[in-house]
Amino acid sequence: MVEAVRPGSEELVLAFLAEAGDEFVSGEVISDKLGLSRAAVWKHVNALRAQGYRIDAAPARGYRLVEIPDRLGELELRPLLNTHDLGQTLHSYEEVGSTNDVAKALAEEGCPHGEVVVAEAQTAGRGRRGRTWVSPPGRNLYFSAVLRPEMLPTRAAELTLVASVALCSSVRQAGVAAAAIKWPNDILVHGRKVAGILTEMAADPDRVQWVVLGAGVNVNLREEEIPAELRGIASSLAIERGAPVPRALFAAAVLTNLEEWLDRHAADGFGPARDAWRAMSDTLRRDVRVRTGDGDLEGVAEDIDETGALLVRTRAGLERVVAGDVELLRPR
Ligand code: BTN
Repeated sequence: MVEAVRPGSEELVLAFLAEAGDEFVSGEVISDKLGLSRAAVWKHVNALRAQGYRIDAAPARGYRLVEIPDRLGELELRPLLNTHDLGQTLHSYEEVGSTNDVAKALAEEGCPHGEVVVAEAQTAGRGRRGRTWVSPPGRNLYFSAVLRPEMLPTRAAELTLVASVALCSSVRQAGVAAAAIKWPNDILVHGRKVAGILTEMAADPDRVQWVVLGAGVNVNLREEEIPAELRGIASSLAIERGAPVPRALFAAAVLTNLEEWLDRHAADGFGPARDAWRAMSDTLRRDVRVRTGDGDLEGVAEDIDETGALLVRTRAGLERVVAGDVELLRPR
């Protein structure tokens, strides 16, 4: 288990190198800026190398970060984070039951907005509607964020759609241009699911206490690692893109996009996210069957309303669906 720690000087050296991107930074500049001796900088560079970071060193030019290890620990993620709140306190684990459960416990203990739980593997990963989320180690992204939005509980469903827009943008930015959203918040690529979101909430009648927003993304899962019952249904970014995706960079991009969309939602309401959701949707204008708690309905998915509910044109008229499972009846 890796506990959340305050940034140490090794982490600061790493953050400095990460910030410089492809550029070399001289040992002198690093030692001046961080108030470390040249020998200490050298020691930290070597310690980072021992942990799998590839750092080039060139005489008269300095150091350059070439490759980061494929892990989602504090050390890998923190230097890449461009957020003001989200993930600034990061709880990173090798294995948990469910990151949502860990985040819910933190929220109940009163942790502030923005704390993030990330794990390399989950032994009891949960999906929507009581399903299991397959969570093998070392390949994917599993995280949960504790949010404390100032909003009425009746508006909390908007957050799931806001998150799906952030997640879909991140998947597209990672080189999977065909990613689209199936209502309410599944990310599909060519009809196969690569990511899902599970939001849970505690609220008073007039105020949200906390929202735990959990997301699972199949990042580098290989075709042969997909369980037999999910073949043809699930996929991963690496399968769709034809090349692996650096997980720490991807995780940092997701948190950055998520925070930007949450900020926009807090400032401007649901309108901008609703428009973006419509533009990224794989559901609208399609023939669908929707399984709801009250039975199935079939029709054409026309739109989402101002609360995020799906509007389906059936023979009986326009139906409003607040929760359910959508089946897309015909391929595009
Ligand atoms: C779904 O599409 O059914 C939602 C899947 C959500 C999975 C993520 S993985 C991280 C977080 N922890 C969980 O147990 N579930 C969510």
